[in-house]
Amino acid sequence: MPVESKYDPKDMLFRHLGPTGLKVSIFSLGGWLTYGGSQKGSIVKECMEAAWNNGINTFDTAETYAAGECEIEMGQALKDLKWPRDEYVLITKIFFGTSRQEPNTRGLSKKHVVEGLKSSLARLQQPYVDMVMAHRPDVATPMKEIVEAFTQCIRNLNLAYYWGTSEWSATQITEANLIAEKYGLIAPVAEQPQYNAFHRDRFEVEYAKLFKDYQYGTTTWSPLAGGLLTGKYNDGIPKGSRLDYHSNMFDSTIKSLQSDEGKAKIEKVRKLSEIAKKLGGSPTQLALAWTVKNENVSTVILGATKVEQIHDNCGALKILPKLTPDVMGEIEKILDNTPKPAPSYGRER
Ligand SMILES: NC(=O)c1ccc[n+]([C@@H]2O[C@H](COP(=O)([O-])OP(=O)(O)OC[C@H]3O[C@@H](n4cnc5c(N)ncnc54)[C@H](OP(=O)(O)O)[C@@H]3O)[C@@H](O)[C@H]2O)c1
Repeated sequence: MPVESKYDPKDMLFRHLGPTGLKVSIFSLGGWLTYGGSQKGSIVKECMEAAWNNGINTFDTAETYAAGECEIEMGQALKDLKWPRDEYVLITKIFFGTSRQEPNTRGLSKKHVVEGLKSSLARLQQPYVDMVMAHRPDVATPMKEIVEAFTQCIRNLNLAYYWGTSEWSATQITEANLIAEKYGLIAPVAEQPQYNAFHRDRFEVEYAKLFKDYQYGTTTWSPLAGGLLTGKYNDGIPKGSRLDYHSNMFDSTIKSLQSDEGKAKIEKVRKLSEIAKKLGGSPTQLALAWTVKNENVSTVILGATKVEQIHDNCGALKILPKLTPDVMGEIEKILDNTPKPAPSYGRER
């Protein structure tokens, strides 16, 4: 039976996921705090469908999101949407478990990586994911065991095609690569770091050598700094927004908005909004296009509670070509947070 294609890339851009042959849409959709959390049932399917209809082919979840409910909701939506499996890319992450506290139901031991991933796949109703990521480093498990565990998932168990890291240091990622090379194991191919206009140093400085040495890929998170860069928190906390709905979890963020540093950030968002307006877009679209502009980003993971947010966010691609060197310079001046490269003591190449 020939497969009936259901995917139309529209005007979406694609990048290779790091050194691999896998192509990911420059925007992807993730489910942290949203799917299985504040949003359940038909809205999850509607958001995923809106992403797909904008040309998004890549979706991100994790065993820990809503204690497993995110995988259940996104998995059910994928089943209902009936997209051909070879037309979309699915990522999950293992480390935190599903809120259980037993000694072996979290971390990156061989036992939890394999059993955690099998449980994720059961919740997702999928035989495999395209990529499994280590959601954090596990300093209590030997790096060789970690690399072996992910190699086993890919090579022996066919549970994933690639593996990656999330919020690992450059040193830890390098160690994993060297161990993979030394023992003939499979190396990680991508990192999932936070990256947005207010959070730049690790991505732009610490990881620079990984991009050069390993062509390491990235699936970046919180591109809107949780919503701050949309301008929605400029004048307080709107009802139903993330900071309102999850006020306990974001207590320190809410307090920090009242600090001098927080007020300075809001002021920057106001100034960025003026640039966005001149370019014919919104501050949200400007913030997203700014992250895409960095070529070391493979895919920017969007978060959305509403279908309209996905349409709005994908509109960032229209202002991307307007981010000329002059405009980028203007943005840089407003942000005033250009990361300093590591010192080279006069030995630059
Ligand atoms: N690896 C990790 O450790 C890690 C950590 C965090 C996230 N992630 C991944 O990255 C994904 C994205 O992170 P994030 O959700 O923090 O991204 P974000 O883009 O910084 O924030 C998304 C939130 O901003 C609000 N928003 C989005 N578009 C908007 C628009 N057009 N107008 C107004 N408000 C808008 C929505 O919240 P409200 O409507 O509720 O206000 C939405 O849920 C997650 O889903 C997850 O897959 C990974």
